[in-house]
Amino acid sequence: MLNIALPKGRLGETVYALFEKAGFECPSIKENNRKLIFENNKKDLRYFWVKPSDVAIYVERGAADVGVCGKDILLEYLPDVYELTDLGVGKCRMAVAAKKDFADDPSRTLRAATKFSRITKEYYASLGRDVDVIHLNGSIELAPILGLSDVIVDIVETGTTLKENDLHVVKEIVPISARLIANKAASKFKSGIISEMVAEINKITENEK
Ligand code: PRP
Repeated sequence: MLNIALPKGRLGETVYALFEKAGFECPSIKENNRKLIFENNKKDLRYFWVKPSDVAIYVERGAADVGVCGKDILLEYLPDVYELTDLGVGKCRMAVAAKKDFADDPSRTLRAATKFSRITKEYYASLGRDVDVIHLNGSIELAPILGLSDVIVDIVETGTTLKENDLHVVKEIVPISARLIANKAASKFKSGIISEMVAEINKITENEK
């Protein structure tokens, strides 16, 4: 049985459609209920819906053999997993944003609010810029508006959230998309099915990347 962790939500649905097209279907997953686990016994597949930021934990610890998570999570938490392929969906970017009237003063330590503390520290370290990272868990856009921070480092997809809060992108740090990841041990003892999955998915996503 191949255990597959999918991120619950819109991205997960897009990704499942991709897996289905690649020949890894599990029809019961489309039943509209609150179940979290679905099996296709004929194909030896078991899917489960996981909170997006938890997928890498399931895969790292072997509760799932493979899973799908954003490159942001891989860069931030450095889970001990193999990154198999870029699925070319869930595209967005990690960016620095600020109020429109913000002007950086390099003589002062920059205050940056974010859910992505490691990415933020590494980015400013690469610039040699002193930064005070303020770790928040959500609604990051509030921080510069209320004077808690000078900038934010966050995911920007459509840009609507920034726009509606009178913020704008100052600098794009890294492009993000969904990645297929695998547990390291499972990559060895289930290598046949996992490589078949990667090959079939790559055929479909080649044009998306
Ligand atoms: C992300 C991010 C922004 C928003 C950007 O939040 O933190 O708030 O999406 O998207 P946009 O550019 O299309 O407006 P998410 O929806 O993941 O929720 P969260 O803050 O609860 O993690």
